[in-house]
Amino acid sequence: MAKRHPSLIPLCQDHHHGLALAIRCRKQALGQLNPGHPQGIEEHVNEVKDFFLKKLCSHFEAEEMVLFPLISSHYSDAKRMTADLRHEHEQIRQGITSLDQKFELPKALFDLGYILERHIRREERELFPLFEHYVPPAEAEQAKGEIERILYVRKHSL
Ligand SMILES: [Fe+2]
Ligand SMILES: [Fe+2]
Repeated sequence: MAKRHPSLIPLCQDHHHGLALAIRCRKQALGQLNPGHPQGIEEHVNEVKDFFLKKLCSHFEAEEMVLFPLISSHYSDAKRMTADLRHEHEQIRQGITSLDQKFELPKALFDLGYILERHIRREERELFPLFEHYVPPAEAEQAKGEIERILYVRKHSL
């Protein structure tokens, strides 16, 4: 992934992990990994739930509370994109809930992997460059503290 502004690095690390996991989930659902069904499916379901709880939940919160509003305030054309990204967060949250069902788990895992991968790639390719281009240095630096606070609080409240 591209070299990023220091404020974005904790989010990029989650993206890196999330992307690898999303791709494995799709492969697992298609029966391309060992062990196959049902053990491999169950292992990936548990891994995704754990990643959501420990990382993605606060990651979404940091983006929704800090990053999206800040970018939109400096570049109003980003409002449509950040609305789409918020909607995708909701779809991913629902996808995590759908893993609690006991039927059609491979499909639920595949769909979740698909949307998570697409979402991460869009943020990396389209959203983060806007932050780096439009947000003034002092505000970008302030955002670093706010993002870290949200990620840190979540980590220590588990
Ligand atoms: Fe996001
Ligand atoms: Fe993200």
